[in-house]
Amino acid sequence: MDLPVTLSTSPRRLGSSAFEVGPIAFGCWRFAGTDVATAQSKIETALDCGMTLIDTADIYGVDGGGEFGDSEELLGDVLRGSPALRDRMVLASKGGIVLGVPYNSTQAYMTAAVEASLKRLKVETIDLYQIHRPDLLAPVPEIAAALTSLRDAGKIREAGVSNHTAAQFRALQAHLDFPMISQQPEFSAWEQSPITDGILDLSQELGLATLAWSPLGRGMLATGKPGDGLQQIQCFENVMAVLQQLAERENATTSHVALAFTLAHPANVIPIIGTQNVDRIRDSAKALEVRLTRRDWYDIVEARRGAPMP
Ligand SMILES: NC(=O)c1ccc[n+]([C@@H]2O[C@H](COP(=O)([O-])OP(=O)(O)OC[C@H]3O[C@@H](n4cnc5c(N)ncnc54)[C@H](OP(=O)(O)O)[C@@H]3O)[C@@H](O)[C@H]2O)c1
Repeated sequence: MDLPVTLSTSPRRLGSSAFEVGPIAFGCWRFAGTDVATAQSKIETALDCGMTLIDTADIYGVDGGGEFGDSEELLGDVLRGSPALRDRMVLASKGGIVLGVPYNSTQAYMTAAVEASLKRLKVETIDLYQIHRPDLLAPVPEIAAALTSLRDAGKIREAGVSNHTAAQFRALQAHLDFPMISQQPEFSAWEQSPITDGILDLSQELGLATLAWSPLGRGMLATGKPGDGLQQIQCFENVMAVLQQLAERENATTSHVALAFTLAHPANVIPIIGTQNVDRIRDSAKALEVRLTRRDWYDIVEARRGAPMP
């Protein structure tokens, strides 16, 4: 008998922290480059839709042709103009990517990076601070010391990592005397490696929140158009065909089904949507109404695998 899978649609705790957030988060990678009023309408729309985790990073802005810090600066301008919004969100940021280096997670760098983020964001504390990518040259005890002293000083409330392997997470956790609360991998109906590389298992083992970045494959799963240089075009079309079929059945879009796919995994997955279009921010919440069965979910996995489950 094929059973419906439960989408985790209710607000949930972020790992072992006291923070409670909605099931979908709003991401600020593409946020920079507008006026403050436009930026504010996106944040307000996201919060009104229950997307209470707002994810940014110091590097955001660069990919849109802007400068390092632009996305945080714009979010900070929104918060300065409407301070009440700060209390409605769990503010997450990241640091450690340095243009041209490419990474630095040493204590001196991270300490200065957090100070700079606080200044741009115009806040006293960052609720969740994430090491953006593993810096292979930074001694793990030193990264842990940086996070510990920043947390002790109240500059950050909680810590997590992004793009780390399970082993890298564990190595860092071993040097901390408080639990990290989250990890942030790329995870979508297209990028399914967290299912098999131990990342989602680690979240379940330790009770972490899994913040899934690019849950629509940078838009590919919404538009059906493969991104530049994408390999495995036939496989992509097969995944899209399954999403499309389910979307028609559910009176939904492929975006809704793709978001529901991530929400159906039991590893406390919170997809971070990246759309900067207010109508699409609002529309994303409809993903919570999609009803997937076990067979549906495994159909998406098998389309990506190119083979039935063993
Ligand atoms: N930790 C990391 O290393 C890392 C890396 C990348 C991203 N992230 C996080 O993940 C968040 C989301 O990433 P993402 O922006 O790649 O997410 P995404 O939700 O997979 O893709 C968003 C993109 O898809 C487009 N899109 C969405 N729906 C569409 C539709 N119906 N039709 C046409 N285009 C559509 C959006 O364009 P419109 O704006 O025009 O709708 C936007 O360009 C980021 O903001 C960031 O917080 C983290």
